[in-house]
Amino acid sequence: MPATTTSPRSETRAGRVPAAERASGAVGAEEAAERARRAARAGAAAPAGVGDFAALLSEDPEIAGILLAECARQADGLQLIAAENFTSPAVLAALGSPLTNKYAEGYPGARHHGGCEIVDLAERIAVERAKALFRAEHANVQAHSGSSAVLAAYAALLRPGDTVLAMSLPHGGHLTHGSPANFSGRWFDFVGYGVDEETGLLDHDAIRALAREHRPKAIVCGSISYPRHIDYAAFRDIADETGAYLIADVAHPMGLIAGGAAPSPVPYADVVCATTHKVLRGPRGGLILCGARLAERIDRAVFPFTQAGAQMNSVAAKAVAFGEAATPAFGAYAHQVTANARALAAALAGQGLTITTGGTDTHLISADTAPLGVDARTARGRLAAAGIVLDTCALPCAEAARNPAARSTGIRLGTAAVTTQGMGEAEMARIAELIAAALREDPAARSGAVALARRFPPYPGHG
Ligand SMILES: Cc1ncc(COP(=O)(O)O)c(C=O)c1O
Repeated sequence: MPATTTSPRSETRAGRVPAAERASGAVGAEEAAERARRAARAGAAAPAGVGDFAALLSEDPEIAGILLAECARQADGLQLIAAENFTSPAVLAALGSPLTNKYAEGYPGARHHGGCEIVDLAERIAVERAKALFRAEHANVQAHSGSSAVLAAYAALLRPGDTVLAMSLPHGGHLTHGSPANFSGRWFDFVGYGVDEETGLLDHDAIRALAREHRPKAIVCGSISYPRHIDYAAFRDIADETGAYLIADVAHPMGLIAGGAAPSPVPYADVVCATTHKVLRGPRGGLILCGARLAERIDRAVFPFTQAGAQMNSVAAKAVAFGEAATPAFGAYAHQVTANARALAAALAGQGLTITTGGTDTHLISADTAPLGVDARTARGRLAAAGIVLDTCALPCAEAARNPAARSTGIRLGTAAVTTQGMGEAEMARIAELIAAALREDPAARSGAVALARRFPPYPGHG
């Protein structure tokens, strides 16, 4: 039976968004239409990466208005969702290009469609860039998403009913790590490991004991909310001792790994799964790395087992992102992301929040707002009302474990997007002040958040 029972993501379902958040975030259809009418009258500048905004505006003002409203929402608040970032105009341009028109089932040089010779070049470049960036023997760049990448990894290595050891969802595992609501929990027999409930840290002895007891076919390391570096060598050791494959699901820290700000699982894991759209700052999508030995199995698990046509616009945009991530500027960015997260965690602690594990090594912070007398869901609503956007997440701390009904969630935030905007440690101190003010329902929080965000436009020079 799966060891996991509840989804920390369940709070994010649309019907349960707090009223304050709905009130502040909701851009009605009429407001979006009005934006489109204003833009049509004024000949508004195209948002970043939008090739022919005038065509969209004249053909479909309803969607054009929504696009403008969302661009304004992203620019006028503090985007602290740990999984989000602002891709570059070059990535957006590749995404919104006619490459989307091309059907390309199969792999470069072996497609099931004609006319693939040009898009083959894009995929070859993306693969070579990913291999060089992460020093991997093989890369598959076709996975449509992080979940698709994990599905393909399981398909390549496992059979239905196999036992898999992964972080349990209440402790920070992803849906694909054994949620009963997900294919993973339905098709495999997941055993969940957790973190030490006092320290919030992974307990390798406890994980080893579970692996010895359950003899899993695969062990998954990776999380949606663990703020510390993962010791991949320790996981490799446990996998070797118990004869398991090691799958590293590094959807979150992949950009830090690219920039040299977090350790790489590539030398240790049999398969590495990732997203390209979080700290890595590419298009929404997945990436799989492995050694030469598993290359063919991984490729067949993506196509034809779990996917058909590759999205060639997205593959090209991934190539652009890998190229950007290989630059010294991206390395500096990745290190600034972690410096900012450390500064923000310390400043939030100074405002009275309890920080899981006492800090962070990564872009990600998980924190308890209860010491300020606010539960996490209320906190998220108050913060959204102030234009500060973040998530709630399960909190693995001891008190929550003892009394889950009373308090089992905290807030989860990350510094990838605000760092892309150019913010540094000084702005992190200000963000912590604004968060504390928003939690007190101080009306000055909203004007402060908007003023700060407007000093750092995500796409300077675009409308
Ligand atoms: C650890 C982990 N795995 C997988 C995923 C799934 O990625 P996607 O939303 O692209 O399917 C995520 C996304 O948040 C994640 O954090």
